[in-house]
Amino acid sequence: MTEKHPDIVPTTPQGLARAGEALRDGDLVAFPTETVYGLGGDATNDRAVAAIFAAKGRPQFNPLIIHVPDLEAGQAVAVFDDRAVELAQQFWPGPLTLVLPRRPEAGLSLLVSAGLDSVAVRVPNHPVGQALLKAAGRPVAAPSANRSGAVSPTTPHHVIESLGDRIRMVVAGGKCPVGLESTVLDLTGAVPVLLRPGAVLREEIEQLIGPIQISAGDPTAPKSPGQLESHYAPNAAVRLNATNAEDDEAFLTFGPDRFMRGGKARLNLSPQGDLNEAAANLFAHLRQLDQEGARAIAVMPIPDEGLGVAINDRLRRAAAPRG
Ligand code: TXA
Ligand code: MG
Repeated sequence: MTEKHPDIVPTTPQGLARAGEALRDGDLVAFPTETVYGLGGDATNDRAVAAIFAAKGRPQFNPLIIHVPDLEAGQAVAVFDDRAVELAQQFWPGPLTLVLPRRPEAGLSLLVSAGLDSVAVRVPNHPVGQALLKAAGRPVAAPSANRSGAVSPTTPHHVIESLGDRIRMVVAGGKCPVGLESTVLDLTGAVPVLLRPGAVLREEIEQLIGPIQISAGDPTAPKSPGQLESHYAPNAAVRLNATNAEDDEAFLTFGPDRFMRGGKARLNLSPQGDLNEAAANLFAHLRQLDQEGARAIAVMPIPDEGLGVAINDRLRRAAAPRG
């Protein structure tokens, strides 16, 4: 236990003004987006960006996403080609991150893109996140507000559990409606590459800009477990495609589960089998089951379509061998 606690800031104009000021001062502020809570720091301040890496315990070669309030602010930090503008106009604000050539003159900390010439830009669709970005008045680097490799936070309480002693403020904006990190699309090459699946679907992107490639992290391509980065991992082991649970396992189910057997604890991602509801509940349910002290969390199969592709991507990482 620590004696340091973050300031829990209400989403009032005064609270948001205070949080914006803290960001400008170089402090870390956790805030809600529609996907997950972000651990925000001034993207133009090397010290603030370094503090993000330190708080998360994240390897420094992993670049961060820059959050801005709108396309215009995005164009100040990155170069948008026609594809990027079209995607931004269609999906922003929303859970799509674009990796684009960085504008060297924008004054972004080099640490933010880990020395790359590119930068990942996103415009979150959350009234509190939007208001905070406007109050901050500068681009905000924000990975998910959890220790590196752990389950992403979808409530202020999750943030405090994971990082409470390491950040100055948490803007308390309730539960994140999407619950999964944004789709990440790399537009720095001739052929766009999907780096991370999320709530903006591959099909929706292809409808707009034509065929895209799926990165090595493609959840639909066969791969050896060794290629999988362990990530989003609870303390308990994770066992996928479970049709029942052992007595020392917790059971994470989906859809009607009345006749499923076993489990010392059980939570249902969506009794109706709704993938959006399942995504919004995923990280919170993993955390809650983890607290049961089970040896493993057994997870029922999730349909690999729509938002299920992103859910299965996170689940496979949670189940991957730990480093
Ligand atoms: O939903 C989200 O995107 C959340 C909320 C807080 O906005 N943020 C988030 O940020 O997930 P972060 O920093 O954890 O995500 C970083 C992802 C990684 O997969 C990273 O490899 C990729 O974006 N990325 C960032 N910058 C990149 C770059 N310049 N080139 C390639 N990939 C990049
Ligand atoms: Mg994360």
